[in-house]
Amino acid sequence: MSADASASPTTATPPLPALAGGPIYLDYNSTTPVDPRVVDAMLPYLKTHFGNPSSGHAFSHAPRRALARAREQIAQLIGARPGEVVFTGGGSEANTLALCGAVLARPDPSRAHVITQVTEHPAVLETCRALRDRHGTEVTYLPVDATGRVDPHDLAAAITKRTVLVSVMAANNETGVLQPIGALARIARERGVLFHTDAAQAAGKIPIDVSGLGVDLLTMAGHKLYAPKGIGALYVRAGTHIVPVIAGGGQERGLRAGTENVALAAALGAAADLAAADLAAAELAAQELAHAGADGGPQRLRRLRDLLHRLLRERLPRVDLNGHDAERLPGTLNISIAGVSGDDLLAAVPTVAAATGSACHTGRTDPSPVLTAMGHDRDRALAALRLSVGRWTTDRDVETAAAQIAEAALALLARPDRDG
Ligand SMILES: Cc1ncc(COP(=O)(O)O)c(C=O)c1O
Repeated sequence: MSADASASPTTATPPLPALAGGPIYLDYNSTTPVDPRVVDAMLPYLKTHFGNPSSGHAFSHAPRRALARAREQIAQLIGARPGEVVFTGGGSEANTLALCGAVLARPDPSRAHVITQVTEHPAVLETCRALRDRHGTEVTYLPVDATGRVDPHDLAAAITKRTVLVSVMAANNETGVLQPIGALARIARERGVLFHTDAAQAAGKIPIDVSGLGVDLLTMAGHKLYAPKGIGALYVRAGTHIVPVIAGGGQERGLRAGTENVALAAALGAAADLAAADLAAAELAAQELAHAGADGGPQRLRRLRDLLHRLLRERLPRVDLNGHDAERLPGTLNISIAGVSGDDLLAAVPTVAAATGSACHTGRTDPSPVLTAMGHDRDRALAALRLSVGRWTTDRDVETAAAQIAEAALALLARPDRDG
């Protein structure tokens, strides 16, 4: 059943030179390679069309058109209007603009209350902490269940008269777990509270429609969907009142000052276009309208992810899935191999590039806060391995990585000096 990657009908795109000769890349949630088609879309704005889009002369025309096009492409991906897209310098900045922008728009931020949840990315958690420390804003952290999901009843119970914003991520970066955003946003809306979702990991990987979901603010990050790092966008529903974090020349409807990075904006637009095409193809295939054998985008990733999971389960005595089996990003697999430290395992398999979620602080390893918030004990959290597949992952990659990971894990389990 071993497939030759170069001949595999399931290899959606030609092999990527940037990945050749390195370890097997299973860390797409950390960052994605830039798609060559995205590079092509941005180069003219580095090489030729250098003008400032706000200038009054002819050099501004092509950059201004590029910005407008990119805004349309991004809006199209998430069901927004182009005027509701604000370019930022990445996902963290978009989250900061959403949270600080909404809270600092209030006459007295020390009387404001924000609700978020325990498995958010640090870009949200640390911004909440900064709002509390610097402005006295009250923050409530909703718990998650063992699968990593928030209970909408908990949100309903946490909203008070002072609540100005709820921020819950669309998909978790470590587990891929999807939150019930539609249900949560509906509760916020009914109570007159703004709703923000950090969709840095979700945008382009699953269908998103801001109107259907009922969100007011939504974060995107370029380098999670095959555009470069350092570019992101915040969807700001028309009529939503937020204040800028970066003040200045009034660009981006006054919400984000600074001459726009036209090349990176064009890149994000092109990446959004490619993602939208992938999602549309997947939708057709799901309706069985596509030609037989169609295996594009999310379906392909889901198949590869599940193949990886199955091969590891077949070879190892105990593999626990961290997260929700079904409500999960198609390309994310977070597992704990019982008795094997994730860090030791990755060190033993340098031929596979993946992540654990744990963090080293001066000689001590802290387990992933996401997994401990889900109620997993320290051993299970330290055993975690995040394997994320993407556009250039092949069947052969998955088969080889599974064999190498399983072999190394069995060797670690057999070590005579093993604890316990
Ligand atoms: C869920 C989530 N939010 C925000 C970010 C931050 O995005 P950026 O690296 O573009 O600032 C990331 C990136 O790791 C992420 O996974």
